[in-house]
Order: sequence, then C-alpha cells, then structure tokens
Amino acid sequence: CSSQRQLLSFPFGFLLFLSSGGIMFQDITTLLLEPKAFKDTVDLFVEQYTGRGISVVAGVEARGFIFGPPIALAIGAKFVPLRKPRKLPGEVISENYILEYGSDCLEMHVGAVQPGERALVVDDLIATGGTLCAAITLLERAGAEVLECACVIELPELKGRGRLNGKPLYVLVESH
Ligand code: PRP
Ligand code: MG
Repeated sequence: CSSQRQLLSFPFGFLLFLSSGGIMFQDITTLLLEPKAFKDTVDLFVEQYTGRGISVVAGVEARGFIFGPPIALAIGAKFVPLRKPRKLPGEVISENYILEYGSDCLEMHVGAVQPGERALVVDDLIATGGTLCAAITLLERAGAEVLECACVIELPELKGRGRLNGKPLYVLVESH
C-alpha cells in the first residue's frame, strides 16, 4: 500500500542496525527519538486496524510495549501485556518458545482476555517467529480470536511468517 512505501522511504533511516556476537540487531530506539517518525509509524498501524472490531491489542515484552499501547488507545481497544516469566502479579498462563539465542517464556494474566474477543498481536520485530507464535498460542488458549500480527520490522530470510499458524502478518519494513 502507498502508506507502507511512504514509511519505507521515510523513517527507515532512523532504524539502527547493530551486530553483536554474530546476531544482527535492529534497534528501534533511534526511531523513537524522532517524534514525527514515531507518530507516522503508529498512524500506519492505526490506519490498518481501525474499524476491524479489535477489542484486544496484545503487546510482547519488551518492545511490543512501545508500539502496542498507542495503537490500542487509538483504535479503542484494551492493551494486554504478554510478559516475561514471573513479572505479572496475578494468576497466569505460560507459553515457552525458542529464540535464535536460547529459549524464553511469555505469560498472560488469566482473565485478561475473554473467549471470543478479537485480538491483534504487536511487537517491534519478527525474526524466527517463535515469539509471535507463542503470543498467538497464549491468546488462543484463552479463547481469543487472533486476527493478525503487526511488527515494524521483518527479517524475511528467517521465514518467521510461516510459523504464525496461518495468521496474517503486517509489517512496515523488510530488512534483508
Ligand atoms: C526480540 C524482538 C522480538 C523477538 C523476535 O525480542 O523484540 O520480540 O526478539 O524474535 P523471534 O521472531 O525469533 O522470536 P527479545 O526476546 O530479544 O527481547 P526484548 O524485546 O525483551 O528486548
Ligand atoms: Mg522482543
């Protein structure tokens, strides 16, 4: 879509690429230093998800907490944090997953999502897709319907898109 091309030619320059220990990092903190670029980024997601009947925006700790809440507020949905282990105070359900550099776990509060709610999952980046796959599984175990996943950056070579249980993925930037 044209707005996607606009982003590719605009704030992409604000994304910083770092290499550490053989792993490439795409750092979105440089984008956050540019208020117009950050706003344009959020607006593209809001444009994509307004009027879709989404009642839950689930953000993945940590960087999904940056983009998820402004999207949730703008589309009138609640924000549900999917957190790393032992961070949430209430009763949780957990889902383990594998990362490029080890394994991790996401947790969600029991009762945060009601059966039948329509959910969007937000994170900064998809690499292998393990994180988003765990997020989708958590929400579906709670009875939610996951409509789509949304990320700022995709690393297509890692083929994470194919691990999302058939859920659509909307990204603003492909990094090759
Ligand atoms: C990074 C990134 C995504 C995830 C993508 O998070 O923010 O959440 O990796 O990788 P995947 O598609 O291979 O699962 P990370 O777990 O490094 O930590 P952070 O967001 O808490 O900094
Ligand atoms: Mg992350």
